[in-house]
Amino acid sequence: MKGIILAGGRGTRLHPLTLGVSKQLLPVHDKPMIYYPLSILMLAGVRDVLIISTSRDLGAFQALFGDGKQLGLDLSYAAQDEPRGIAEALLIGADHIGTDDVALVLGDNIFHGPGFGEVLHHHVADIDGCVLFGYRVPDPERYGVAEADAQGRIVSLEEKPARPRSNLAVTGLYLYENDVVEIARGIRPSPRGELEITDVNRVYTQQRRATLVDLGRGFTWLDTGTHDSLTDASHYMQLMEQRQGVRVACIEEVALNMGYIDAEACHRLGEELANSDYGQYVMNISAAAPAPWLVAP
Ligand code: G1P
Repeated sequence: MKGIILAGGRGTRLHPLTLGVSKQLLPVHDKPMIYYPLSILMLAGVRDVLIISTSRDLGAFQALFGDGKQLGLDLSYAAQDEPRGIAEALLIGADHIGTDDVALVLGDNIFHGPGFGEVLHHHVADIDGCVLFGYRVPDPERYGVAEADAQGRIVSLEEKPARPRSNLAVTGLYLYENDVVEIARGIRPSPRGELEITDVNRVYTQQRRATLVDLGRGFTWLDTGTHDSLTDASHYMQLMEQRQGVRVACIEEVALNMGYIDAEACHRLGEELANSDYGQYVMNISAAAPAPWLVAP
């Protein structure tokens, strides 16, 4: 399976923070925002990832990750200069996807919950059409909203409905079979001139090939769209680190525990950051045995 991270857009709701810097590079506590969705793809076993951003910002992402080899990944980059919708990522990434299935994740979506790696593995192994992840929110009108039957088959999907039929927001992580490229090619732009991902997902819904996984209680899905929610996300990650002693989305740790790199390589990555607490953490975990709950099945 291939991966795509869409890290484009102008981030206007975060101005002036984003006047000079990509939203997805802003800090969420101790690391750039994009570490969080990247770690999700890594946990799903996806190592070949295309990062899509604006021409202005691509160089900064490249400076951050390079070709990804140091993490046991294969990273490539492509530009989306106009905000023409999430589904355009599937067209920009068509060559990258090739004949594989694909996991698309939005660069500003933060997922955190116990056992999520196993949930992802389970679904990645057997996709019929598309797999979406739902999260109960108090304000579903701000998101894509799904309604599913008892088996988790999606029966209706709407984008930012005035009167939502459920409180299940569709999060920004989408697993697709390879035919998604054909489906994305077939949809028409919305009145705003965007290729809406919800229109792609609605095709699968009509074909009864759309599955919803309810992320459930105890799971955290964070929004970083406003100044307040961005600060809240930082506070959440700071609390996790201080109370649980773990760092969420430490990509070096995920690479180690997934077996993408060995302990020695992980330690070297920590040494490069040795002046920071984060770097010290990476060095410490590389010296310890892999956490059993993170080891690849
Ligand atoms: C997009 C999608 C929406 C989804 C959301 C998740 O909305 O269109 O369906 O619920 O991402 O973050 P946007 O954030 O671009 O308004």
